[in-house]
Amino acid sequence: MVQKILLTGGAGFIGSHTYVALKDAGYDAIILDNFSNARRNVTDRLEVITGAPVTCIEGDVLDEALLDRIFADHDIAAVIHFAALKAVGESVEKPLDYLNTNIAGLYALLRSMQRADLFTLVFSSSATVYGQPDELPVSEAAPRSFNNPYGFTKLACEQSLEQIAASDNRWTFGVLRYFNPVGAHDTGLIGEDPNDIPNNLMPYIAKVATDELEQLSVWGDDYDTPDGTGVRDYIHVIDLARGHVQSLDALLKSGKGHVVNLGTGTGYSVLEVLRAYERAAGRTLPYRIAPRRAGDVACVYGDTRLAKEILGFKAELGLDQMCASSWNWISRRKNT
Ligand code: UFG
Repeated sequence: MVQKILLTGGAGFIGSHTYVALKDAGYDAIILDNFSNARRNVTDRLEVITGAPVTCIEGDVLDEALLDRIFADHDIAAVIHFAALKAVGESVEKPLDYLNTNIAGLYALLRSMQRADLFTLVFSSSATVYGQPDELPVSEAAPRSFNNPYGFTKLACEQSLEQIAASDNRWTFGVLRYFNPVGAHDTGLIGEDPNDIPNNLMPYIAKVATDELEQLSVWGDDYDTPDGTGVRDYIHVIDLARGHVQSLDALLKSGKGHVVNLGTGTGYSVLEVLRAYERAAGRTLPYRIAPRRAGDVACVYGDTRLAKEILGFKAELGLDQMCASSWNWISRRKNT
């Protein structure tokens, strides 16, 4: 029997790619999204990519009555919970919004799942829970901390899931700690497209490459890294999406929860990412060195062994493929 998965936030960047990966893997999927950070045409595009109608319910994860209706109307086997706010800077300005959407949103979902007798959930966590790790690559056993309200919400959600799992062994949680998701689908039909000026590196570089933004500001070149600029573990969203499918497979098969890093295990500096994007776009891109961004850490990349061991997951796509797919998406989007 084909199992149906609910994707909260399924019209967003990672959710939409995971939708495609789930359909490819033989799952059925439905989307709940409030479109606060997703384009409405995403569902049409998902229909083009998958060649099948998309069920998308517009609504908020805090709306428990709506969640109850969804679980009554659909025979859902598991939930993947993407719906959350994710901009670090904004979280400092509007902490209550972040606490409410990210933490209260998770609680609303869990309460409704419990009423529906549904206990399997994949949760979008983040390498932000490591702060600046003492040891690299950072393993899942490293101490956790937070530097801002966004990071606090991810840590609080992880700890809440631990308490709940300990209280009732019907709950099985797959906690996925994403490193830096980038890139886009090969078709160029879905990708990351922030409405405002992007906070994150690759979407910012993409908008410099399309001349929508004048130049990249490199936030600091005096870090203790090979070229002085910040180093991160960028992961192609196609690999990340597959990681969700493998997490779900493992939960449904074993009935046992897991907490794993999803990254490539390789760190690249800001300037290395810029050079790779220049290769993809076929031109040099203007940048300036600017002061460090408050709250940034020098270097983070993940230990990927546990994801391999538990999920059989290994990222396959490299930095050039990440940049090429981003450029394919962003340059087409500009022309349509
Ligand atoms: N950077 C620039 N210029 C920019 C944007 C970023 O130089 O315009 C640099 C940053 O200083 C950093 C690197 O590029 O060295 C990556 O920055 P991002 O903002 O793309 O990503 P972060 O690693 O800071 O943050 C990401 C997610 C967070 C998450 C965090 C840790 O955006 O949600 O990873 O997992 F919390």
